Amino acid sequence: MMKNSSKLVGYIFEFAWILPSVAIPVAVITAVIITAFAVGIRVPDIAGRIDPVAINNVAPFNEPGVRELAPGRYEATLIAQTFLFTPNEIEIPAGSDVTFVLTSRDVIHGFKIVGTSVNMMAVPGQISKMTAHFPEPGEYLILCHEYCGSGHHVMYGKIIVK
Ligand code: CUA
Repeated sequence: MMKNSSKLVGYIFEFAWILPSVAIPVAVITAVIITAFAVGIRVPDIAGRIDPVAINNVAPFNEPGVRELAPGRYEATLIAQTFLFTPNEIEIPAGSDVTFVLTSRDVIHGFKIVGTSVNMMAVPGQISKMTAHFPEPGEYLILCHEYCGSGHHVMYGKIIVK
């Protein structure tokens, strides 16, 4: 009798460990699927390669700034370098979709637009691309969120939605 009940306790303990070891991976995979397909959060992929030395001569980086592609659709080309974004401030009308095209002239920088899902890296030699929708007028802060040197903390820009 004594032996059986200690065996039962053993099974309960074993099950108590097996259950989370299955439930936790299932929960993580479910969270990844929900964020990717329902919330639209995804890891930005490489949109192209570029010679970091030749940035000034290669479109669209030879003319950084905002371009209108179609009514309500814009493309913003930005260059990251120690310790600023070029351009440092961009203006777009409310209700527009903006595709950010980004690269770095020197070291790895971060590019986060606070209050949106835009969060990518500016890597020398690589072009990063991501689109965001700006429904409301307001100001959005662009932050370099990758430590890039002594002036990292002053590397920021602004998006003005009118
Ligand atoms: Cu650029 Cu931190």
